[in-house]
Amino acid sequence: MTAQDFKPRALIAQISDLHVKPEGVLAYQRVDTAAALVRCVKELNRFTPRPDLVVISGDLVDSPSKEAYDHLIRLLTPLELPFAAIPGNHDHRDLMRAALPDRYAFTAGALHSVREAGDVDVVLIDSVTPGKDYGTLDRDSLAWLDKILGASATRPALLFLHHPPFATGIAHMDVQNLRNAGALAAILRRHRRARLVAAGHVHRAVLTTFAGAAATICPAPNHAVALDLDARLPPTFMIEPPAFHLHVWCPGEDFGSVVTHSVPIGDFDGPHRFLNNQ
Ligand SMILES: [Fe+2]
Repeated sequence: MTAQDFKPRALIAQISDLHVKPEGVLAYQRVDTAAALVRCVKELNRFTPRPDLVVISGDLVDSPSKEAYDHLIRLLTPLELPFAAIPGNHDHRDLMRAALPDRYAFTAGALHSVREAGDVDVVLIDSVTPGKDYGTLDRDSLAWLDKILGASATRPALLFLHHPPFATGIAHMDVQNLRNAGALAAILRRHRRARLVAAGHVHRAVLTTFAGAAATICPAPNHAVALDLDARLPPTFMIEPPAFHLHVWCPGEDFGSVVTHSVPIGDFDGPHRFLNNQ
């Protein structure tokens, strides 16, 4: 494939871990998650070419309440792009379903959904364990995913879930991972069209592989979980440069290629033309 052939056919933006509070309330008495989401929405709206879809990969609110979800909806109203969301451990399924009625696969319980973006299927699977911080995919969820991925042998699919199915080395987050990652891996190995497993939860950009697919964690528009690889350290967060992920799918052999870009959020100097020294 030449550079000229490399034309994206699907652009999926992923934002994650918004942790919106009721209006006027800071997260952890320090982080203005609402202002962070306003900046994130502005960045998404001005990005060209326009993403086909925005996936919000969980923890839409910090503590679930109608007031928090109402605030979230007001903050998302200026977003000019279609979006779909899955819950995280900070969300509440029923409150989220009421705030964001969508084409969910089940009429109650888990909030799974599927969207088409160009020639790609975007599969959003709810990994929440009610009342717990760690993730699980119950039997019905696994059966649903197996059926969805089995529906085509040719279309590439990108899978989104909140809880990473792999360890990051940050111990206090790793204990909250997807508990039955092996069951997910078995399904992905059966359906090679799943080319990306994109998670949230850790508020950091992370890259690895999982069950033969690329696997990522999306950074957050607000605070980052500190990169503490020493398990003796207490859980802490940092205010680091905010960002989102842009997953670019380009057609090609073997389901094409998926490239993930980390997009910084904010106003920066540039763009400047590259010019020869004179
Ligand atoms: Fe989370």
